[in-house]
Amino acid sequence: MADPSPASFGTQANALLRKNLTYQRKHIWTNVRLILVPVFLCLLLLAIQQVLDALMNSVSQMANDCKTNPDMPGDICPISNPPLLPPMLQLPQHELRSVKADFLPYRDLPDKSCRVTEGSCPVTILITGDKQPLGKDLSENIFATSFAVNTSDVLPSLANNVLGSTEAAGENNYADPRIASDLPIYSIQPLCSAKSTWPLSFAKIQTEVKCVQGLCLWRNNSAEVNDELFKGSWKGNPAGLTNEIAAAYDLKSTDKKNFNVTIWYNSTYKDEFSTRPLKLVRVPRSINLVLNASLYP
Ligand SMILES: *[C@@H]1O[C@H](CO)[C@@H](O)[C@H](O)[C@H]1NC(C)=O
Ligand SMILES: *[C@@H]1O[C@H](CO)[C@@H](O)[C@H](O)[C@H]1NC(C)=O
Ligand SMILES: *[C@@H]1O[C@H](CO)[C@@H](O)[C@H](O)[C@H]1NC(C)=O
Ligand SMILES: *[C@@H]1O[C@H](CO)[C@@H](O)[C@H](O)[C@H]1NC(C)=O
Ligand SMILES: *[C@@H]1O[C@H](CO)[C@@H](O)[C@H](O)[C@H]1NC(C)=O
Repeated sequence: MADPSPASFGTQANALLRKNLTYQRKHIWTNVRLILVPVFLCLLLLAIQQVLDALMNSVSQMANDCKTNPDMPGDICPISNPPLLPPMLQLPQHELRSVKADFLPYRDLPDKSCRVTEGSCPVTILITGDKQPLGKDLSENIFATSFAVNTSDVLPSLANNVLGSTEAAGENNYADPRIASDLPIYSIQPLCSAKSTWPLSFAKIQTEVKCVQGLCLWRNNSAEVNDELFKGSWKGNPAGLTNEIAAAYDLKSTDKKNFNVTIWYNSTYKDEFSTRPLKLVRVPRSINLVLNASLYP
């Protein structure tokens, strides 16, 4: 006969423990999962930490490299004191500069024969406006008559000259492709004398400044300028000739009290149809040029 008295506490606890153990054994994989999830999360955090550490290390390594060797290749170092680069005019290539042509009525352009001798074609600037006498004064003042730099202060004093380049500008102004390469920089002057090249060196750059003659020609109105610019493109004239103008200005109503000028420039140099970022255009020097010339009539 079974003992009707209730089981002792020890027996009850023992039974409960066994029941629990059996239950937990049946669900062993649930338990394993419960333990593994936090372990997995910890491992994930550890991995992220490792990756971040590695990244931070390479960044500070790079900063150190930049400190010890600021000329590291690849443009990755910050430029703490960017040099004051002189602004330049965009000049057409020698053999594409504007010359006399049958499809143009103007006789003041240079003869086509200049294209045969390297360096002998002048660069042309066109001027129009309401007042031809002002245009005449301005075109006599627009170019500097010499090339001069202060050897103890080269870069800033370069900007006092009228310099130009046939090379397009880059995507930023920190490294002008013109200044970094070894092609000559042009100094535009009304007439080039016999001595027409000057050596130029600053920072680590050795280059040469070459005189190029500048012509500043008056046109009767802006429609004529537009027409001449349009016909200067090889698609704009029946002969398929390229006749490029360096810059053109419409002085409009400009007088001693009022500066009101339109500037033409060639926007092809922006390279807007390529997939790369837009390039800069060399317009600032063009603005300074006409402004400075109109300040000293
Ligand atoms: C050349 O530059 C130095 C330094 O800026 C200046 O002291 C000097 O007066 C300049 N010389 C001329 C002729 O402008
Ligand atoms: C501005 O024009 C004056 C007078 O022609 C000239 O002496 C000076 O060098 C010019 N400055 C620049 C920055 O072109
Ligand atoms: C420009 O104007 C001048 C004077 O008014 C005139 O002689 C000349 O033929 C004009 N030029 C053109 C291309 O129309
Ligand atoms: C503008 O510049 C481009 C690129 O150098 C050249 O091909 C084109 O002829 C220029 N257009 C004019 C009107 O000068
Ligand atoms: C500048 O010239 C344009 C065209 O000639 C004219 O419409 C405008 O009123 C002028 N602006 C000033 C400030 O004179």
